[in-house]
Amino acid sequence: MIKYFKPLTKDQHDEIIDIYNAEEKDVKPWRKGASYKRAYAVVRDYVSENLGHENWECNSGNFFETLYPYRLHADTKITESNYQNIVFPLSYDHEEDAALDQNVLYIFKQMWYKEGTMFLKGSPPSKEGPRHNTETREYSTVANIEEGYIDKVTAADCDHLPTENFEGMSVAAKMLWEPGKPFTFSRNAIHCSNNWHRIGIKSKLGLSLFTRSTS
Ligand SMILES: [Fe+2]
Repeated sequence: MIKYFKPLTKDQHDEIIDIYNAEEKDVKPWRKGASYKRAYAVVRDYVSENLGHENWECNSGNFFETLYPYRLHADTKITESNYQNIVFPLSYDHEEDAALDQNVLYIFKQMWYKEGTMFLKGSPPSKEGPRHNTETREYSTVANIEEGYIDKVTAADCDHLPTENFEGMSVAAKMLWEPGKPFTFSRNAIHCSNNWHRIGIKSKLGLSLFTRSTS
């Protein structure tokens, strides 16, 4: 399922940001994070209404405040029945003339059924070692991979990444990342942001919730 949720009310949106501001932060050089738990308690009913499905539970997630556009990755866990990913765009820091209507998250048709990882075909090995997820440079176990296909338009919009990272990837949806307008997609779906530095955005704050099936 890929869809936008009903937009948050201003009160809901402000409350989530207040919770983030009050949380203890986990600071890494490339992002700040914080626990999703207090925020989830506030949005639990809203999420239920919008997902419209009883047989799931939210068992992980995080706030993220990031200075860098995201790489291709999946937020899966091998130990559970992955269900939906829910992204709450909360705020961004940007230039006055930033092209905010071009700030997107790409969801691909390609699916990943193993432990969460970064998809880095053609990228040189990381000097600092994997950050959190593992790194995958060979795509033969990616489901629905389209051998030999490169979506050049998408790769150009994601020019923070080498074109080769996109080999075999085709877009299922291009979701506008707009504060107050959450959306959902399969937790197995590979996804990445476009290069929002190029359109005048300096940093972003969001909340991700990960769900699993319980039936
Ligand atoms: Fe993600």
